[in-house]
Amino acid sequence: MQENLILMEKHGRVRLLQINRPEAMNALSPELMLQLAKRIEDFETDPEVGAVVLTGNEKAFAAGADIKAMKDWSYMDVYQADFVTSTWERISTFRKPVIAAVAGFALGGGCELAMMCDFILAAENAKFGQPEITIGTIPGAGGTQRLARFVGKSKAMEMVLTGRMMLAAEAERCGLVSRVFPIAELLPEALRVAQKMTELSSPILMMAKESVNRSFEVSLEEGIRFERRLFHSSFATEDQKEGMAAFVEKRKPTFKNR
Ligand code: CAA
Repeated sequence: MQENLILMEKHGRVRLLQINRPEAMNALSPELMLQLAKRIEDFETDPEVGAVVLTGNEKAFAAGADIKAMKDWSYMDVYQADFVTSTWERISTFRKPVIAAVAGFALGGGCELAMMCDFILAAENAKFGQPEITIGTIPGAGGTQRLARFVGKSKAMEMVLTGRMMLAAEAERCGLVSRVFPIAELLPEALRVAQKMTELSSPILMMAKESVNRSFEVSLEEGIRFERRLFHSSFATEDQKEGMAAFVEKRKPTFKNR
């Protein structure tokens, strides 16, 4: 078992997770994804953790699932291990904010992992793609579904059917990433944004995240109803009282996450 495939740094209440297999372009091996899922599981219940930044290195966020590990797996191997679902999906059910800070390649499962985060900040050298078709398979960690929701049918189809990569500027233009930075500014900016979120109310952030995510699941009418119920319930929190009182009293709010 290889240790430290996911490195962790503490920055106040932000946890920076770094995918750490530089020799393999950060290919996402089963052990690596297990370590990532465990980290996220621990952060879920740790009140000292307010937000997470997930990153790779300057060459690769991640070049996808580990092809060398996968190549000889049988149908029964992947079915019985519940490959992808059992570990990868943990980040998509995480209730606290998580930012993907992407430099270099985000391909296949790497692109899918970034899309499981709440939003993507990218370096100018970032390259996104779903090249699975070129190795005889299809995206299997949500790529055909999430990419289509992010960038629309035409671009998603082109990327999934041809394996074409998208550079950072195009990814920003079509809404896959929220902002692009020179590479040296990517991590400081991601940490700054995450830090800002840790100063907000944690349960209200969860409600906001749950509500936006809901928009991808249900009709507009159902989504609005869901939002309205959460909006109303925010009035039952101490943090809503504090936030609005602070605004009226022209001071900075102190949220208690209650
Ligand atoms: N799995 C395993 N090893 C990988 C890998 C991957 N996904 N991507 C790169 N590597 C390894 C290479 O095999 C190579 O190892 P060796 O030095 O032992 O030969 C090392 O990382 C460096 O890679 P390259 O020499 O290929 O570097 P490059 O700069 O020439 O190319 C690249 C970089 C374009 C990212 C290229 O490595 C590449 O195309 N990688 C595969 C991308 C891919 O097909 N991803 C989809 C995987 S399937 C998937 O993700 C399924 C899913 O949806 C869950």
